[in-house]
Amino acid sequence: MTVEPISGGSAVLAAQERNLVRVSLRTSGFTTHEGQRQWFEGINRPESDIWYWQFVDNDVTRGVGGLVNIDRANLSAEISILVFAHHRGKGHGRGIVRWLLTEAFDHMNMHKVWAEVYDCNPAKDAWPKLLEGYEYVTSHRPDTKYWNGQYHGSTFYDIARS
Ligand SMILES: CC(C)(COP(=O)(O)OP(=O)(O)OC[C@H]1O[C@@H](n2cnc3c(N)ncnc32)[C@H](O)[C@@H]1OP(=O)(O)O)[C@@H](O)C(=O)NCCC(=O)NCCS
Repeated sequence: MTVEPISGGSAVLAAQERNLVRVSLRTSGFTTHEGQRQWFEGINRPESDIWYWQFVDNDVTRGVGGLVNIDRANLSAEISILVFAHHRGKGHGRGIVRWLLTEAFDHMNMHKVWAEVYDCNPAKDAWPKLLEGYEYVTSHRPDTKYWNGQYHGSTFYDIARS
């Protein structure tokens, strides 16, 4: 798998794929091309709090992922990942998470990386597997996501530099 800064084309594809998994998103409204273009213009700059990449295997973009909510004062960031629907279950998620954590800890000098996983996300049980080999602590917060007419909580995974 090769890693590249996300391109405009992949950003558009990512917007389409995001709209398929609104249950897992912070903002459950549909992402528009215009909204995605504005997001794309703000990322991957020295001052950005979002760095995003695309993950390419055999010339096909399998998914996107990044470090978001980058807090340079406290050396923390949130991990964000989206494996495109047709490419799930083939190990790409695990590879992307490992690449992002290596980038965060070994290149960006992050002290802590965290993930917030909604209880209503059908892929929530993947996280302990995605993080195998890393040290982390979990905590739970209720009522963080409103979806389908009811509130759901989140599990936070606080991953330490090991
Ligand atoms: C979560 C996600 C990134 C997993 O990506 P993936 O490429 O399918 O994961 P992998 O193939 O690397 O699987 C890694 C492990 O997780 C397990 N796993 C994957 N999806 C799972 C699911 N839905 N439920 C339970 N376990 C799952 C796999 O079985 C594998 O474990 P194993 O090696 O012991 O069999 C992907 O489902 C996704 O992008 N979902 C939509 C967006 C999303 O939810 N992002 C996270 C927001 S917090």
